[in-house]
Amino acid sequence: MAVTKAEVLAGLEGVKSPEGIPLPKTGKLSDIVVTDGKVFFSITVDANVVQSWDPVRKSAETAVRAIPGVTSALVALTGERAAAGRAQVPPSPHAGHGRPAAHAGERQPAVPGVAAIIAVASGKGGVGKSTTAVNLALGLRDLGLKVGMLDADIYGPSVPKLLAIKGRPEMLGGNRLKPMDGYGLKVMSIGFLVEEETPMIWRGPMVMSALTQMLREVEWGTLDIMVVDMPPGTGDAQLTMAQQVPLRGAVIVSTPQDLALMDARRGVAMFKRVDVPVLGIVENMSYFLCPKCGERTDIFSHGGARHEAERLEVPFLGEVPLHLAIRETSDAGLPVVATAPDGPHAQTYRDIAAKVRDQLGSGPPAGRAAPKIVIEA
Ligand SMILES: Nc1ncnc2c1ncn2[C@@H]1O[C@H](COP(=O)(O)OP(=O)(O)OP(=O)(O)O)[C@@H](O)[C@H]1O
Ligand SMILES: [Mg+2]
Repeated sequence: MAVTKAEVLAGLEGVKSPEGIPLPKTGKLSDIVVTDGKVFFSITVDANVVQSWDPVRKSAETAVRAIPGVTSALVALTGERAAAGRAQVPPSPHAGHGRPAAHAGERQPAVPGVAAIIAVASGKGGVGKSTTAVNLALGLRDLGLKVGMLDADIYGPSVPKLLAIKGRPEMLGGNRLKPMDGYGLKVMSIGFLVEEETPMIWRGPMVMSALTQMLREVEWGTLDIMVVDMPPGTGDAQLTMAQQVPLRGAVIVSTPQDLALMDARRGVAMFKRVDVPVLGIVENMSYFLCPKCGERTDIFSHGGARHEAERLEVPFLGEVPLHLAIRETSDAGLPVVATAPDGPHAQTYRDIAAKVRDQLGSGPPAGRAAPKIVIEA
């Protein structure tokens, strides 16, 4: 029998808040997500009392694990901070309640210490967005920038694998997480926090909560740029995510086929809707480079993304060939920019990185005007 939400709530009745109130009655619980015996929810409390709630979080996990049929439990504790002390920003947009942070007229709070955040997105899945994001981040690193990487693909995180990062992030004081390190990048992914096999059929509110925590409760330190690997698609979930993060710009990845380009167009439109400048389009798997003879074949009428970029009046950032070395290094956690820095592919990614950096140089400051539309998750 599948575990139900009601069973989880019943199991939590015995867990008391520091004031002695049964946890389900405190009003601090997020929605509870149960998938194949795996339970996930968060407790959101005032940041000042977060320490006193940690034992409650642990007891909640223990209580949930004891419910027959539960195979694992992850309870996140979120400290909600008041606006005081943060210059020129509105209250922290804690999404523990599933509300998107941005409302018309407000400004997205910047992430302290992070100069610019950019999204790498695609309208369509499987076009090589994560591979591009990782190699672009490494290319930016090679330009001498301090770079972070946030895996926002909550449903299918792939950054831990692409950067071959194992283990779990260390918990620092104040319930903050230390990012992991991958080839000199500071990295955070939901993949570090939940089991790989966990099906991520989370509802909107949970997704937002996880994203906000990874953005705002991680000690990112000082970063010149943070690259966000977005989940594929242009639906409400992606739109809300784009709103949740104070983005300075977005890079759209597309393959050259017409169908993919149609999706890329939707991606461009989505970012325009939320007032995020499109930094440009990358054509991935642009042409086939034979690893044996080096001969080039334009399997999918290459150049489509360049034309599309011209048509949409957004910059074209470059073309990456379809090459076995890129696939093999990417899938083995040995990204080509880090492991073959002198090769042609690394150079391609560094050129794209330089264009992205140059685009940002003239962009608006972080903490841009918030999007005009709000989609309830
Ligand atoms: N230029 C390339 N040449 C060869 N293989 C590539 C290239 N870019 C990506 N790949 C391969 O294509 C597959 C999909 O890439 P990736 O996971 O980066 O796509 P994605 O758009 O992030 O997918 P998803 O939508 O699932 O998040 C991977 O096996 C990757 O190694
Ligand atoms: Mg991906």
